[in-house]
Amino acid sequence: MLPSSFSKLTQVVASIAVHALLLSSSLVPANAHSIARRATVCNGHPELCDRSYGNVSFVGAHDSYAFGPLTQLGVNQDQNVTQQLNDGIRMLQMQAHLKDNQIFLCHTSCTIQNGGSLEDYLKTVKNWLDANPTEVLSLLIVNIDNLVPSQYDTVFKAVGLDAISYAPPTTPVVATSWPTLGSMIDSGKRLVTFLDNGADSTSVPYLIDEFTNIWETAFNVIDPNFDCNVNRTKAQDPSTQLYLINHFLDKLLLGQAVPDIDRANQTNAATGLGSLGVHVDTCVAQHSKPPNFLLVDFYEFGGGSVFEVAARINGVSYNPSTPIAVPATGQAANPTSTSGALPMQPLGEKNLAWTIFVVFVGIAFGAYNAI
Ligand SMILES: *[C@@H]1O[C@H](CO)[C@@H](O)[C@H](O)[C@H]1NC(C)=O
Ligand SMILES: *[C@@H]1O[C@H](CO)[C@@H](O)[C@H](O)[C@H]1NC(C)=O
Ligand SMILES: *[C@@H]1O[C@H](CO)[C@@H](O)[C@H](O)[C@H]1NC(C)=O
Ligand SMILES: *[C@@H]1O[C@H](CO)[C@@H](O)[C@H](O)[C@H]1NC(C)=O
Repeated sequence: MLPSSFSKLTQVVASIAVHALLLSSSLVPANAHSIARRATVCNGHPELCDRSYGNVSFVGAHDSYAFGPLTQLGVNQDQNVTQQLNDGIRMLQMQAHLKDNQIFLCHTSCTIQNGGSLEDYLKTVKNWLDANPTEVLSLLIVNIDNLVPSQYDTVFKAVGLDAISYAPPTTPVVATSWPTLGSMIDSGKRLVTFLDNGADSTSVPYLIDEFTNIWETAFNVIDPNFDCNVNRTKAQDPSTQLYLINHFLDKLLLGQAVPDIDRANQTNAATGLGSLGVHVDTCVAQHSKPPNFLLVDFYEFGGGSVFEVAARINGVSYNPSTPIAVPATGQAANPTSTSGALPMQPLGEKNLAWTIFVVFVGIAFGAYNAI
């Protein structure tokens, strides 16, 4: 008797407990979960959380890994990747080369400029993303040696970036169908990686084909009147794609396109001839929407103007919490300095022999500064 009534009692208690559990699990944790995880600030702005990734403009660093003193050949940036990200760069473009069976980030050839291994680079990116959990970041990899996606996947896995990479359910993704920044941050999948060629959505779905999803304007431009014509795409109808403007000005040196550093301030400016601001306005007029990616050289030249332009087209304010980096050399502000710092001119006479050598190597390896 006792066992039976005891067992009835336990059954009732158990049943109440189960119901309470079901009730609580169906209500409380679900709410707690979404409240806890809903991002309120996305890429620095509450207004961007509900905006589709395809409806946001991001500033990108062209050859982000190729940073160094302006006197060094093959550099397109003078601040390191962490500084680029801290200052607001949200697309990192890079060129991948296979060397000694490992992926390195080099400019044109690893003899001219070697920015280190992809693995070390991605560790820096991972550390920054871990420290900045409400940021969505894009990578654009120029797969110059036609490596297969699994070769990149191995490195992403070694670093742990595969786990936070966004993989679209189907591809291509039309510009209006990308998820919101808020949902990407909430889901933890906030790294978007494009491969300019060789992507295979069945083998590695988070390595996304660039040219079926993004069209680009011309690169290695030497005329400051940057145009907005569709230059490279794989889409029948580019108007359904995201788009990227290559807004970095080159000049010809011995027939080779090299960055026109002397004009970088004006190229990156918000207004004026050859400026990013004017280029963007031209593109809006031509395509009825702003570019998604603004790829620039020496991004901090202009004192943050590139981020001002992006903020303007995103309809948000630009109020950096810390001052943006100053150009790494800094002699321009103090041209008579005898401190022994290297001169501003990137390719002065003393580099001429080296330049000629590089140009020959460049010719041997294909166009110097190829994107
Ligand atoms: C995002 O959408 C708004 C509203 O339609 C539009 O004004 C803005 O230009 C769009 N931005 C991009 C990059 O598509
Ligand atoms: C990156 O650059 C910043 C600013 O110049 C510097 O403070 C930081 O130490 C650099 N980081 C590395 C890893 O070199
Ligand atoms: C792309 O731009 C390059 C450089 O300006 C030009 O030579 C080429 O003709 C362009 N291609 C197309 C398809 O517009
Ligand atoms: C670029 O602008 C900075 C001030 O923002 C100035 O110090 C520097 O001299 C300029 N550089 C060139 C090459 O004009």
